Amino acid sequence: MKAPPSRPGRLLRYSVGFLVAAVLLAVNVPTVMSFAINAIHDYTINTASYKQREGHWSILPVPSKYRINAVHAALLYTGKVLIVAGSGNDRGDFEAGKFKSILWNPANNKFKLIHTPSDMFCGGHAFLPDGKLLIAGGTSRYELLENQVTRAGGVMTVTNESPDGTAIRLPAGAEFVSPTGIAFRSTEAATIPSARKVRQANGVTEVTASTTELWVEALNKGRSSVIKQVTKYAIQGIKGSESQTLFGIATSLTMEKQNFWASNKSYLFNPATEAYEHVSNLTLARWYPSLVDLKDGRVLAVSGLNQFGQIIEGENEIYTPATRTWTKAPQLKRTFPTYPALFLMPSGNLFYTAGNAGFGDPKVGRTPGIWDLSNNSFKVVPGLRDPNETETSSSLLLPPAQAQKYMIIGGGGVGQSQQTTARTAIADLKKPRPHFEPGPNLGQPTRYPSAVIAPNNEVIITGGSRLYRGEHDSDILECHAYNPQTNKLSNLAESTVGRDYHSEALLLPDGRIVTLGGNPLYGNAEDTAPGTFEQRIEIYSPPYLYHGARPVLTGGPSRVTRGASALFTTPHPESITAAELIRPSAVTHVTNSEQRSIALNIRREAGAIRVTIPGGAGLVPTGYDMLFVTNKQATPSVARWVHVG
Ligand code: CU
Repeated sequence: MKAPPSRPGRLLRYSVGFLVAAVLLAVNVPTVMSFAINAIHDYTINTASYKQREGHWSILPVPSKYRINAVHAALLYTGKVLIVAGSGNDRGDFEAGKFKSILWNPANNKFKLIHTPSDMFCGGHAFLPDGKLLIAGGTSRYELLENQVTRAGGVMTVTNESPDGTAIRLPAGAEFVSPTGIAFRSTEAATIPSARKVRQANGVTEVTASTTELWVEALNKGRSSVIKQVTKYAIQGIKGSESQTLFGIATSLTMEKQNFWASNKSYLFNPATEAYEHVSNLTLARWYPSLVDLKDGRVLAVSGLNQFGQIIEGENEIYTPATRTWTKAPQLKRTFPTYPALFLMPSGNLFYTAGNAGFGDPKVGRTPGIWDLSNNSFKVVPGLRDPNETETSSSLLLPPAQAQKYMIIGGGGVGQSQQTTARTAIADLKKPRPHFEPGPNLGQPTRYPSAVIAPNNEVIITGGSRLYRGEHDSDILECHAYNPQTNKLSNLAESTVGRDYHSEALLLPDGRIVTLGGNPLYGNAEDTAPGTFEQRIEIYSPPYLYHGARPVLTGGPSRVTRGASALFTTPHPESITAAELIRPSAVTHVTNSEQRSIALNIRREAGAIRVTIPGGAGLVPTGYDMLFVTNKQATPSVARWVHVG
């Protein structure tokens, strides 16, 4: 813990007097000492001058019925925050079908339980042009650790080479037998399509076999059923010539840990009705996908684990708002680790910082660069320090978005690695040959840092832990402000609640920052007790909220147009020095492709300021934004919501 500044002399004298009294009374001195230090610290952090310098943290009082495991959080254009747990990494809730979301209104601290139709735990999300939140994927089965696996299991690919046109129905429990007589059964029913017969131009007919993946587990418990090489399996009940064309192939049926299984469900959260709306399913089930806005208002879903917990190898898909459907995007085949940090660029291409969260081949898709969606090429952006420590990092497009500087913050080695970095780095994509340049190091190596763009154009960096999922009680309470103009970090007040895995932070319309979640693996420094999910919500009021009167926007249009100007009334236009649009956050696993701050040109008029919205949907995506103005003291107004299109 950072030592509190030594300002409160009055309290110190008081404490020394108390200490002398304690010694005279033979009270335990270290206890009294720590009591005195805590009292001084409490006094200090509540002084006006400290708040002006470092800001202030406070715990949000949440009635017990609304306390949930905040795995996902999104700020809606109604000013309310949707907080989603789904099953919240709680196997009991998953098995009971208890999926949770709440809506919190930061303006009056009212809460509301939201009926949650499916387990959105570890899905992805992005805002649509109409302000609805698109959510895709989530959990369909919890993981099984190695000591929970009793039967060998894995994926069986059922192959049908017969083009006779009839589909074959296999019931759940269909048996697959190896040449040595080891039997497995399927866990779900499936329909196996016929092979396809295609007549080529030269008159030759070619047959393309159909393949369907099933999960199977051994009939007999124990290691004797483990088969680790590619093997062909006969399907029981399939006889004669049919057995030549219909069979199973499995590459590996083992007793290793089985990952979480993904859901293919997709929903919209409608801020107006405060309810989920079901849309068409994903074409592939996805767990830990990134959803990223495209320039034309569609949304690209990238990566994730599939319905059997395997990394999805390059199969991405697109949501079209007009038809409310997902369609495969074979033209954009590219493999990334889960929750890749992707950002929409003015060109419509995507920048990848190499930030990601949790799963994937350690050698595939871990290099930063520009993904050109017009031809699916990828241009590496070199120079990133600690390139093997991008997992569990945080990334963002720095303010102002026009500058096209992207930052990656902290992170660690793949999986449960003890390697963690304090590195920050910035890629300036406006340079002729973009490359990463060093930013300032964090106070200590940090996984899962949260980074929030504040309306004064600084980035507040908070939370995280030194080690994987807060191992060894390694949560970090330090908080920093990063200034993109000076490329420097400054220290801010420390939070009181630690945030690690499954945590997030976002900017509120009133300029405060909220931090939520945290899912430590262990509950003590010895790593012997199980951890508990952090349900407290903490609010940070940055220094700019303690520097006197705030500018006020009293009126203006609710819809603005890219490339056009708009007039907003304010009693003191002469005091306003800057204006920006900040797109609200939708964040999970410290992954947030949404937040961006676009600087606006301003002109002062009588009783009003005129702002000009830049052009280009790749820079200013269609949707709802917060309009902030700031004054000479860099004090921001409360935001006004505007729809930009
Ligand atoms: Cu997760």
